[in-house]
Amino acid sequence: MLTIPTVTLNDGKAFPELGLGTYGLRGDAGISSIVAAVESGYRLLDTAVNYENEREVGEAVRRSGLDRGELLVTTKIPGRHHGYDDAIQSTSGSLEVMGLDYVDLSLIHWPNPSVDKYVDTWRAMIDLRGSGQVRSIGVSNFTEAMLTRLIDETGVAPAVNQVELHPYFPQGALRAFHAEHGIRTESWSPLARRTELLQEQVLQEIAEIQGITPTQVVLRWHVELGSTPIPKSADPERQRENADVFGFELTADEVEAISGLERGRLWDGHPDTHEEM
Ligand SMILES: NC(=O)c1ccc[n+]([C@@H]2O[C@H](COP(=O)([O-])OP(=O)(O)OC[C@H]3O[C@@H](n4cnc5c(N)ncnc54)[C@H](OP(=O)(O)O)[C@@H]3O)[C@@H](O)[C@H]2O)c1
Repeated sequence: MLTIPTVTLNDGKAFPELGLGTYGLRGDAGISSIVAAVESGYRLLDTAVNYENEREVGEAVRRSGLDRGELLVTTKIPGRHHGYDDAIQSTSGSLEVMGLDYVDLSLIHWPNPSVDKYVDTWRAMIDLRGSGQVRSIGVSNFTEAMLTRLIDETGVAPAVNQVELHPYFPQGALRAFHAEHGIRTESWSPLARRTELLQEQVLQEIAEIQGITPTQVVLRWHVELGSTPIPKSADPERQRENADVFGFELTADEVEAISGLERGRLWDGHPDTHEEM
C-alpha cells in the first residue's frame, strides 16, 4: 500500500499531499471505486453537496474498514446554501446524508460575489468548527481580494483554498498569496480533465527521462509546487498510478518547463463572474 505524506494546515491539522476527486463517482460502482482508492493508500476524499455523491462517500468510509480518524472527508457548501443559517443547515444535511459525525474539511464551493453572502457563510463555518461538526474550514475558487476580505472581516484565514490548477493554469500569483497567509493550495482538475495535456511533448520527455508516466509527472509537479492535487479516477490501476508520486522528485528546471505550458483557465470559471448555485 502507498503512503501519502501529509503537511500541517494553519489550524494544526494534518492534511494529505494528494487526495481523491470523486466528481462523477456515484452508485455502487462509485462506492467500489472509492473503497479501492482507500485500499491503495488514499486518505483524503473530496466530495460536495453538488456532486450528489455524499452518500456514496460516507458508505465508502464505512466499507473501507479503517477507523474514521484515518480518513479525511471534504465536502462543500453550495451557492444556494450561502448565509449563516443556511450554511449551518447545509452542514447538518451533509452529515446526515454521509452518515458521519463530523466532516474533516468544509469549503465554500464558489464565492458567488453577486449574492454577497460568503462572509456570513464563513462566520457560520467558524462556529461549525467551534462545535466540532467540522474539523477544518476553507474555501474554493476564492481570489486574493476575496480571501483578504474574509481575513479582514473575521480575523480567520481559511486553512485551504481549492482552485483550478494544472500546468495550463499554474496560479502563480494566488499561490504566492497563499504562502504569505499560511493557506494550503489544493488543485482541482489537476490533470486538466485529461484534455490534450497528457500528450504535451515536455511531459512525455520528462516522463521518459524519469521512467514514469506523463500523469505522474503532472501530479508530482503539483506536489513540488506545494499544492495538494485531487485527481479523480474511477479505475483502481489509474488511482494507484496517480498516487505513486512520492518516490521521486522533479528538478527545478523540469518544474519550470512544465509551468511554461501556462495558457490560462480552461473553463472560463473566473470567480468574479462565474457563479454556481
Ligand atoms: N471546487 C471546485 O469547484 C471543483 C471543480 C472541479 C473539480 N473539483 C474536484 O476536483 C476533482 C478532480 O477534478 P476533475 O475530476 O475535474 O479532473 P481531473 O482529476 O483533472 O481528471 C479526471 C479525468 O482524468 C482521467 N484520469 C485520471 N487518472 C488518469 C490516468 N492516470 N491516466 C489517464 N487518465 C486519467 C479520469 O478518467 P477515469 O476516471 O476513467 O480514470 C477522468 O476522465 C473532482 O473530482 C472534484 O472532486 C472541484
